[in-house]
This record gives sequence, structure tokens and C-alpha cells, in this order.
Amino acid sequence: MAIERTFSMIKPDATQRNLTGKIIAKLEDAGLRVVASKRVWMSRQQAEGFYAVHKERPFFGELVETMTAGPTVVQVLEGEGAILKNREVMGATNPANADAGTIRKEFALSIGENSVHGSDAPETAAEEIAYWFSGIELVG
Ligand code: PPS
Repeated sequence: MAIERTFSMIKPDATQRNLTGKIIAKLEDAGLRVVASKRVWMSRQQAEGFYAVHKERPFFGELVETMTAGPTVVQVLEGEGAILKNREVMGATNPANADAGTIRKEFALSIGENSVHGSDAPETAAEEIAYWFSGIELVG
């Protein structure tokens, strides 16, 4: 399988509960390598821009509130089949549906406060990485 890069976020519900290290350990244990990372407190404008694809959905206001409520760790993960692997380690969007051992099963509070985000396809991974990072910030 090819080496890929994917975009990952540790959301405010998790950073506020001091779960950053535990989440990164699960990603690393799955064979993913953090090649870029920074802590940001998203502005409303940044959150609305990042999640623009969801702007017509009924939960959009709640999503923006959730993502601006505290610090987020934005990061780039690298590894074999990284996009799918990251989503497997994260588990289902709604923690009630997530498999045992996944990040969301262990740590998420609800479908909105679900602790992590991960890109769903190569095109979105490239767009999401470029939204938060310049090329020189990626150090493999
Ligand atoms: S998915 O995986 O894209 O099909 O999931 P989806 O249900 O479409 O949700 C997209 C993102 O919106 C978040 N979400 C919510 N946030 C706040 N409140 C409510 N009610 C809510 N419902 C969904 C969900 O966590 C997804 O965030 P990301 O960061 O994309 O995983």
C-alpha cells in the first residue's frame, strides 16, 4: 500500500480534557507518524471556512461553536494507507456507533464533541492540509 499523508485534528472537547497525548499514542501505535503539528484556537471565520462543505446542514452553527470553544491540535499524519487507517483508528462519527478500542469509543462525548477529525479521501486530505499548513511545515 502507498505511503499517504492525511489531515487530523484533536478537537477542543479532547484538548480541554487533556487527552492530546493519549490520542496521539493511539495514532502512533497504529503506525501513523506525526509529520506536522500545531495548536490553534480557531476563529469563527477559520471554522466556518474549514467546514464550509457543511454550511447548509442543520448542525452547522453548533459545529462552529464546538470548534471555537477551545484549542485544537491540527496535524498531518503519514503512513501506509494513512487516510483509511486514521479513520479506522478514529471510529465512527457518532461514538455510539464506534467500535471498541477506537478513539471515539474511548473518548468522544457525542456526535459533535467527538474528539477527532480525519480526512475522508486523498482530495480532501490535500485541501485540508493546505488549509492549515505551508509545505515547509511538513517534516517527514
Ligand atoms: S461524516 O463523517 O462527514 O459523514 O459525518 P457527518 O454526520 O456528516 O458530520 C460532519 C461533521 O459534523 C459534525 N457534527 C456535529 N457537530 C456538532 N453538532 C452536531 N449535532 C453535529 N453533527 C455532526 C461531525 O462531528 C463531523 O465532524 P468532522 O470533524 O468532520 O468529523
